[in-house]
Amino acid sequence: MTTATSERETTETGTPLLKLENVSKHYGNIIALRDVTMEADAGSVTCVLGDNGAGKSTLIKIIAGLHEHTDGKFMMSGTELRLSSPRAALGLGIATVYQHLAVVPLMPIWRNFFLGSELTTGWGPFKRLDVKRMKEITKKELADMGIDLRDVDQPIGQLSGGEKQCVAIARAVYFGAKVLILDEPTAALGVKQSGVVLKYIVNARARGLAVVFITHNPHHAYPVGDRFLVLKRGRAIAYQEKKDISLEELTGLMAGGAELEELAHELEHSSSPGAQDALKDVEAGLDDLDAGQAPAKS
Ligand SMILES: Nc1ncnc2c1ncn2[C@@H]1O[C@H](COP(=O)(O)OP(=O)(O)OP(=O)(O)O)[C@@H](O)[C@H]1O
Ligand SMILES: [Mg+2]
Repeated sequence: MTTATSERETTETGTPLLKLENVSKHYGNIIALRDVTMEADAGSVTCVLGDNGAGKSTLIKIIAGLHEHTDGKFMMSGTELRLSSPRAALGLGIATVYQHLAVVPLMPIWRNFFLGSELTTGWGPFKRLDVKRMKEITKKELADMGIDLRDVDQPIGQLSGGEKQCVAIARAVYFGAKVLILDEPTAALGVKQSGVVLKYIVNARARGLAVVFITHNPHHAYPVGDRFLVLKRGRAIAYQEKKDISLEELTGLMAGGAELEELAHELEHSSSPGAQDALKDVEAGLDDLDAGQAPAKS
């Protein structure tokens, strides 16, 4: 595997905002992630691709402070650290937008935008929510991200899945995120709505955020990504700058073994008799595929 890292380190002197170096994660006997290295720079989009069970969620859980890594280094601006909680991650400017967003559907958009961080006005017994300012800010922030919503008083539940994702992205930007992790934001969306979300990913990059975009879909990743990490059964099978990989190569890395991959994943967790023998056969098939379809760049 060639890596994007070494090349960039010689051409640029700046330290990456976020860097994982040889990070592994074990869940008991299961190795969910093995020796993964990646970086996320300010004003760039790093895409993490892989099939089911590849380790994508495990990777973002480590970055988001949900789970601690077992081995390797986690660095922010060159300083090694261990995140003990999502709150600690947020404190460092690492915001995560999950596919299934935690929104209160019946509450207006502006209420959801400020949920948990409401602005108040007045003092003591006269303290109350500063509704006017919260509405104004929500309107302005959405407009600045290029999000055109008619009315911030509308219940957020009325928005489409794509629009909700966009509001969540704008919210993370407003509350000072430096690293924005997007967990399969386009997985449940149609073509048009996916396009809308991709546009806001590009806007977040333009605002200087280090975006980490998790997806199954190379066609969503390629147009917006600056760098691509492809995971397979917990390992990195490619880590490339955009100039060093084509959409065809990226698609080739993702395709081929998809069904077998899923079957292996299921068998690994099956207790039925014969599952382990079947798993060996499937894994042999996957190895054959790997040998036969190794793309030029990896
Ligand atoms: N909490 C856990 N305990 C034990 N094993 C786990 C745990 N979380 C994940 N795993 C295992 O680690 C591997 C990687 O899982 P992960 O959820 O990171 O994959 P993924 O790439 O996000 O897949 P998907 O596309 O299906 O979301 C899988 O084999 C999974 O079963
Ligand atoms: Mg996942």
